[in-house]
Amino acid sequence: MKPVRKAVFPVAGMGTRFLPATKTVPKEMLPLVDRPLIQYAVDEARAAGIEEFIFITSPGKTALENYFGAAPALERTLSEKGKTGPLEALRPSHVAEGAVSFVRQENPKGLGHAVLLARRLVGDEPFAVILPDDLIRARTPALKQMVEAHSKNRGHMIATESVCDDRISSYGVVDIERREGAVQILRGLVEKPRPEEAPSQSGVVGRYILEPSIFERLAVQGPGAGGEIQLTDAIAADIAETGVNGFEFDGERFDCGSVSGFLNATIAYALDRPDLIDNLQGFLRGRATGLSQAA
Ligand code: G1P
Repeated sequence: MKPVRKAVFPVAGMGTRFLPATKTVPKEMLPLVDRPLIQYAVDEARAAGIEEFIFITSPGKTALENYFGAAPALERTLSEKGKTGPLEALRPSHVAEGAVSFVRQENPKGLGHAVLLARRLVGDEPFAVILPDDLIRARTPALKQMVEAHSKNRGHMIATESVCDDRISSYGVVDIERREGAVQILRGLVEKPRPEEAPSQSGVVGRYILEPSIFERLAVQGPGAGGEIQLTDAIAADIAETGVNGFEFDGERFDCGSVSGFLNATIAYALDRPDLIDNLQGFLRGRATGLSQAA
């Protein structure tokens, strides 16, 4: 049984919801408290035992590529000045040479297409896909929970969570045959269904562990919802042969693809920080009082 050692991060999107910030800064580099969004995804992957990091990027994302490299001049200056705190803060951003790759997606043909581009780098082993927009705050990192569950339940595994009716058609939605604890044995899944056609209230969240058979499916997958090559459709096509499980992770998800989700995540993560909590709590209490008096 091969372990899950590689993770694919599809980061080719234009981030239009964050314009004008994303005119020159890739969305994944926007700071959530004091670290770029992508750092949270990489930290989660590392905690799950991932050793190789594959980014599917697009032209204009050089800031992201540079971010994971070494910064010798900066490190030298900090170390000469004895600034150990900032030096320590830099450490997680450095991914060892040879452990990180960047593949360019020249045409935005969809998530399925992005994952297919990792085929040669992944090879013949199970691998993780992390969509950095879905930020999951959890005691045990979500991907680690999934890697453990996957070791006992082979086949493709996708993270799921309950989604309200008015949002369901923005998600992949799973059709559940039965449940075994947090694992859902699936008989189908559909990308962005109309609310009346959704097979359940359980939506796909951006964490996947995929068997390499997905690449054969993706290679022949035609366009689906929105005219894009959908990962959901390729997984659905592989159900009979490979098997697909949903996984209800334990944690709180923030949709950092939207400005309001990003803002909520910023507050939640800042409240987790001992150095920021007092100031932020005081500020929020003051604002809440002002708002209730005005109402
Ligand atoms: C993608 C997937 C969808 C999933 C969602 C989770 O959609 O295609 O199945 O539910 O991520 O964030 P997107 O948000 O890129 O439209």
